[in-house]
Amino acid sequence: MIKIAVLGYGTVGSGVVEVLSTNYEKITQRARQEIEVKYVLDLRDFPEDPVQEKIVHDYSVIAKDPEVSVIVETMGGVNPAYEFVKEALERGKSVCTSNKELVARHGAELLEIAKEKKVNFLFEASVGGGIPIIRPLNQSLTADEIQEITGILNGTTNYILTKMAREGVSFSKALKEAQEKGYAERNPEADVEGFDACRKIAILTSLAYGMQVDYEDIYTEGISNITDVDISYAREMGASIKLLGTGRKVGQKVYAMISPMLLNSDNPLFSVNDVFNAIFVRGNLLGDVMFYGAGAGKYPTASAVVSDVVDAVKHLGTNIMTIWSSQKLELADKGEVSRRFFVRVPSAQENKARELFGDIQEIDAGILGDFGFTTPFITEKEYEEKAKELNVRRMIRMDF
Ligand code: HSE
Repeated sequence: MIKIAVLGYGTVGSGVVEVLSTNYEKITQRARQEIEVKYVLDLRDFPEDPVQEKIVHDYSVIAKDPEVSVIVETMGGVNPAYEFVKEALERGKSVCTSNKELVARHGAELLEIAKEKKVNFLFEASVGGGIPIIRPLNQSLTADEIQEITGILNGTTNYILTKMAREGVSFSKALKEAQEKGYAERNPEADVEGFDACRKIAILTSLAYGMQVDYEDIYTEGISNITDVDISYAREMGASIKLLGTGRKVGQKVYAMISPMLLNSDNPLFSVNDVFNAIFVRGNLLGDVMFYGAGAGKYPTASAVVSDVVDAVKHLGTNIMTIWSSQKLELADKGEVSRRFFVRVPSAQENKARELFGDIQEIDAGILGDFGFTTPFITEKEYEEKAKELNVRRMIRMDF
């Protein structure tokens, strides 16, 4: 019998307790041991819930209990999660977490402590909700050099963009629905401004290249400015707007970015809708693979956390090697990357836009007073220089 503790009885933490009980037999078979939740740490009490008998308010009770060998951290935020997780690892307990901020900021250090102590620091649920992506990157895609990881990494924004495009629902109504379904972060700015996806691409890029990618270095643009007018233009182009995270090797350099992107139907991410996430990985010999599934929500995320608990139990006393050094990876300037851009300007600036960008393609979505067009392939730097001369109402990067 393995005893574990769950830190945080919110959406994901309560999901973990439920998954462990619902799939008790299968989990026991796979872990080759029974797993029992001995403690649940939360500031609150839950008098109506049978979990109440396991609730503790003082972390030291858990940290000091030698019977607890695995800790699940589902509190979110960096503090005090970081201190708790660090102490647990130093005391020889494995930790499984869904906390992307903690992993993005302190992953390299926590993995190093886990290695020293012959325990495990596992974080499958930190990226892509229920989609297995961390374990495949660490353990399956090990024969290849990763050339690119691009994904729809935030369920809330994908849900919002899908609702806006399909049903003409307003941004705020779609966000409210995502919050009601338990997809959104406590502060939904983290979703809509791209910060959540930024942490996730920082984790994936760090794992792909084995070095520390600081999320503060990643250019991040969210979806809060996207309107129904932009959606009309996308429709006119036969395209969809998705919030994409990318980590890509160009020559000897790596660049990473989060931004809304126009995709056409040739792109495998085009039809990833609702709360679903998908992560596309390109290896130099493997070619392209894509991982797809529920990117947020109580049970998908809890299921990923419990898969880590099973892995931790199966590897008690052994560290599963993960290559992620604390050496900083200096990201390349996004200005060097070439692509096409969709741009909207006041219709009075049509001639100027044609002069500046040359071979442009007009997109007519029937919006009065607007001139919409796509540029030829140019670098971001070139785009920025030309755009300074115009009153750009919206620019959306294109992936076709
Ligand atoms: N708020 C996050 C999302 C939760 O919407 O994807 C999963 O990390």
